[in-house]
Amino acid sequence: MLLERYRAFLPMTERTPMLTLNEGNTPLVAAPRLAAELGVRELFLKYEGLNPTGSFKDRGMVMAVAKAIEAGASSIICASTGNTSASAAAYAARAGIEAIVVVPAGKIALGKLAQAMMYGARLLVIEGNFDQALTTVCELSDRFPVTLVNSVNPHRLEGQTTAAYEICDTLGGAPDALCLPVGNAGNISAYWMGFKRYADAGKSSTCPKMLGFQAAGAAPIVHGHPVEHPETVATAIRIGNPASWKLAVAARDESGGLIDAVTDEQIIAAWRDLARLEGVFCEPASAAGVAGLRMLIEQGRTERDARYVAVITGHGLKDPGLAVEQFAKPEPVAADMASIVKWLGW
Ligand code: F0G
Repeated sequence: MLLERYRAFLPMTERTPMLTLNEGNTPLVAAPRLAAELGVRELFLKYEGLNPTGSFKDRGMVMAVAKAIEAGASSIICASTGNTSASAAAYAARAGIEAIVVVPAGKIALGKLAQAMMYGARLLVIEGNFDQALTTVCELSDRFPVTLVNSVNPHRLEGQTTAAYEICDTLGGAPDALCLPVGNAGNISAYWMGFKRYADAGKSSTCPKMLGFQAAGAAPIVHGHPVEHPETVATAIRIGNPASWKLAVAARDESGGLIDAVTDEQIIAAWRDLARLEGVFCEPASAAGVAGLRMLIEQGRTERDARYVAVITGHGLKDPGLAVEQFAKPEPVAADMASIVKWLGW
């Protein structure tokens, strides 16, 4: 139970309910084949797809919903590219309160849509993108008695710091660098808060470089200005004006890291390699960290002789349609041994 395990590092009071779906405590998977392929000494995957709703969002959501209940809320709202809405819907269901989720039409992976509906959220699909959805929910939560649970709610980032603590606890200290996708820029900000806090508490002796990666068609932080029409195959990070922009830039600069862009082709290649070489199936956006690490190594911009952790933010089954599209449709074979042996080429 995340809220209990890291109680001392979280904004817990006696009145904070112990909400849980057994989030957190995700595996840190050694990835030696992928490390060899990329040409780095050591690579671990923080497999956040194994959270209860299949993404890292559960860490922040359990905290935000617990605090909302503590404050007497009976309704929460968020904008989302899919995972935040799935998580908000699940924790609202668990807590017995209402969730309203606002998502961009046609740009959310099927699994995420299914989750929000099954968990019983009120699903508002808008003819607009994530950035417009976020502006909408900010205004709604100002005007009406509903708690905003996007990462502009500070409790979200607090909850997400726990992933940094887990990595340090497992490795016995921080890695040299952390590679991760950047969308609304909350996660990179939360990890940095977490690593700094753990170092200040004497729980780790160093902090990692933060290496964040946006999709090339949705890279406002890289370009230094908002992107009006963000586009990428990685719908989870299809964001043109991230809420935690300033915090992410601070995380980048204070850690001596960088935020760069990777193309959809680079993302897809890394996405397939994660599954093919390590048996870790994630959603496309989740592969951006590995895609970025590969690019930095190829360009000689980062050390080979270092320990890297890549955050695998969401589960592959969130977006199975795109996965299947990568391959030729299998033609059925007659169900007799001769045909099957022939197909196998034996
Ligand atoms: N990876 C996945 C799978 C995500 O769903 C997100 C964000 C990110 C990475 C980027 O994290 O926003 O903290 O920089 N998804 C949000 C959502 C925007 O609505 O689910 P970030």
